[in-house]
Amino acid sequence: MKFVAILCTAVAVMAAPHTITSRGDFAVKDTHSVPPQWKKLRKAPADHTISLRIGLTQASFSELEKRLFEVSDPANERYGQHLSAEEARNLAKPSAEALSAVHDWLHDSDVRPDTLTYSPSRDWITVALPVAKIEQLLNTEYHVYENDEGTKLVRTPEYSLPRGLHRHIDVIQPTNYFGHPKAMAQTLRVVDADIEPHLDLTPPDYPWHRTKPLSPYSTANLSAVCDESAVTNLCLRTLYRTVDYVPQVPELNSVAMTAYLNETANISDFHVFLSRQRKDASLNYTYNYTTINGGINFQSLETTYYDQRDNEANLDAQTIGGFIYPTDFRVYSTGGSPPYTPDISTPTNTNEPYLEWLAYMLALDSPPHTISTSYGDYEHTVPYSYALRACQELAQLGARGVSVVFSSGDAGVGPNGTCSSNDGTNTPMFLPTFPASCPYVTTVGGTRNLSPEVVAYDVLNDYVSGSGLSNYFQRPSYQNAAVKKYLSSIGSLHAGLYNTSGRAYPDISAQGYHYVVVYAGLNAILDGTSASAPTATSVLTLVNDALIAAGKSPLGFLNPALYSTLYHGFNDITIGNAWGCDTSGFPAGKGWDLASGFGTPDFKKIKGLALAGWAGPH
Ligand SMILES: *[C@@H]1O[C@H](CO)[C@@H](O)[C@H](O)[C@H]1NC(C)=O
Ligand SMILES: *[C@@H]1O[C@H](CO)[C@@H](O)[C@H](O)[C@H]1NC(C)=O
Ligand SMILES: *[C@@H]1O[C@H](CO)[C@@H](O)[C@H](O)[C@H]1NC(C)=O
Ligand SMILES: *[C@@H]1O[C@H](CO)[C@@H](O)[C@H](O)[C@H]1NC(C)=O
Ligand SMILES: *[C@@H]1O[C@H](CO)[C@@H](O)[C@H](O)[C@H]1NC(C)=O
Ligand SMILES: *[C@@H]1O[C@H](CO)[C@@H](O)[C@H](O)[C@H]1NC(C)=O
Ligand SMILES: *[C@@H]1O[C@H](CO)[C@@H](O)[C@H](O)[C@H]1NC(C)=O
Repeated sequence: MKFVAILCTAVAVMAAPHTITSRGDFAVKDTHSVPPQWKKLRKAPADHTISLRIGLTQASFSELEKRLFEVSDPANERYGQHLSAEEARNLAKPSAEALSAVHDWLHDSDVRPDTLTYSPSRDWITVALPVAKIEQLLNTEYHVYENDEGTKLVRTPEYSLPRGLHRHIDVIQPTNYFGHPKAMAQTLRVVDADIEPHLDLTPPDYPWHRTKPLSPYSTANLSAVCDESAVTNLCLRTLYRTVDYVPQVPELNSVAMTAYLNETANISDFHVFLSRQRKDASLNYTYNYTTINGGINFQSLETTYYDQRDNEANLDAQTIGGFIYPTDFRVYSTGGSPPYTPDISTPTNTNEPYLEWLAYMLALDSPPHTISTSYGDYEHTVPYSYALRACQELAQLGARGVSVVFSSGDAGVGPNGTCSSNDGTNTPMFLPTFPASCPYVTTVGGTRNLSPEVVAYDVLNDYVSGSGLSNYFQRPSYQNAAVKKYLSSIGSLHAGLYNTSGRAYPDISAQGYHYVVVYAGLNAILDGTSASAPTATSVLTLVNDALIAAGKSPLGFLNPALYSTLYHGFNDITIGNAWGCDTSGFPAGKGWDLASGFGTPDFKKIKGLALAGWAGPH
């Protein structure tokens, strides 16, 4: 509403010489096709305000990446020597030349310096400006787009920059990213004796009601504590052998989960869950709930169990809490992409959520040691420039010693009937998901059944554990040998549908079928690799507890250690397929495979390996 003032008062503030820009100098910087479900409606109003994020090229990213791999590789003498916030931020800085070129450009366009805000590394500049101004800066036109569900956004598929700026700027948003990340929790089913009599959980001898670990704790006891069609926290803790571990440094260690899309982790349901499935937990235990960029925390909103509104956040919070009680546990709820509302001309931040969340995390001096995320987009719907930059920010978290964990997706190699490129050629291809495809994160697939565990699927809701090879990110060297071996084992199977040189996932797996969680006070059953990511994250969190208690560094970015030695601590999954795209997808097999990675965690083995010295400074 009052941004006209910015346009006309700026000139006096600016003093530096004008060097870079003239209209004719512009060239297209980035273009990404509009996803098919979005239709262009009309030109965006000139006075609509957008909070623009300008990502300046980080001068030393290759050095940061090198340091990430050093501190994460047990064979390297720097293993475990994670970067301080200051060291990481120094490596993320733009060059002085880039910063001054961007300042000159904004200056020349009469953007007042006092309206700019900076990330701690100054590699991000954020500024709220009216559409008319941004259209001039980026030599583009914004339109209002609407999707199938009636959501409206202001976007442009393509933007330009003066040629001299191309190498100084990685990405500018919101521009051409339309995606809404999807939650990976599948179909909520309410398990209530009245609704599903065969799942009557009332008999007191039912495994469900067992909350005390059996002695001795061994997988031989699984049948006494587990029901494959209603997987409880005790079953998971017995299966992955954390059940008799008591956290030693719960206040020094920390774990976090992220929530997007208006999901709230319901504290009341969390406590009901603990009272049923983790009876030893004190009911004053809870997570620290932080909202970012308009994220929400609707604790008192009435829901019924048919709403399915918060099932993702509840699943994640309850799974983690059940495993890691009483460790410091944080929930980050990030808003983003609020729909365009024509009547509101106050600045609303319509950036997509990952960058907002990452900006918040990287500004923290002490980020949590492990972070679980169960959301993702199909990679080809995410602009390359955006994916690349978000992935670089994830590398920065890894370099600082954070284990960043994502779920692999719930549609195998892609949903039947949808598997083609969106570059206009409709070339058939498997559909990898992002951020699962980022080489600096640990990606977790799902399993089901107990002896043996197999690759997860559920015919009732078309769920198949996600798998893929990136078309954006090259295969990192840590997984070279494993992936080559696997690809040669499958020969020409599905050749041409996937990228043989791409980063391959999942890295590991964990149960992702028929979890029993509490939803609006009732027991419910959920499927999805959404369940797998928090479970794997919890096991890593408890390994960190043992490491920190022994005076060692936490695990940090897991993959280089995982692919070199740590895989010995995982149960190989050899049965099942990551189906999809109207094919049988990728089969599991002996050793690393594209359906299950290295398999599911055995806490005692991983902890043993870690404490024995492949982890931590020697
Ligand atoms: C657990 O398994 C062990 C063998 O590993 C067995 O001796 C013990 O009786 C089992 N406990 C229960 C309660 O089934
Ligand atoms: C989130 O909630 C806000 C406020 O209730 C609403 O305007 C918005 O549409 C919701 N966003 C999503 C993605 O559901
Ligand atoms: C929570 O309750 C336990 C006892 O159940 C008590 O020891 C502890 O101090 C309490 N913590 C807080 C933060 O109130
Ligand atoms: C919760 O997190 C916020 C933001 O990080 C922090 O300021 C606050 O001290 C934390 N509260 C507790 C009880 O740990
Ligand atoms: C939170 O849980 C309480 C109790 O289970 C329930 O009444 C309420 O509807 C829930 N709120 C949301 C937003 O799920
Ligand atoms: C395959 O992946 C590489 C990166 O590893 C990328 O450069 C190439 O464009 C991808 N091919 C296709 C067809 O997307
Ligand atoms: C997808 O296609 C495969 C192979 O044609 C088929 O076996 C499977 O049932 C289909 N899945 C769904 C969810 O339709």
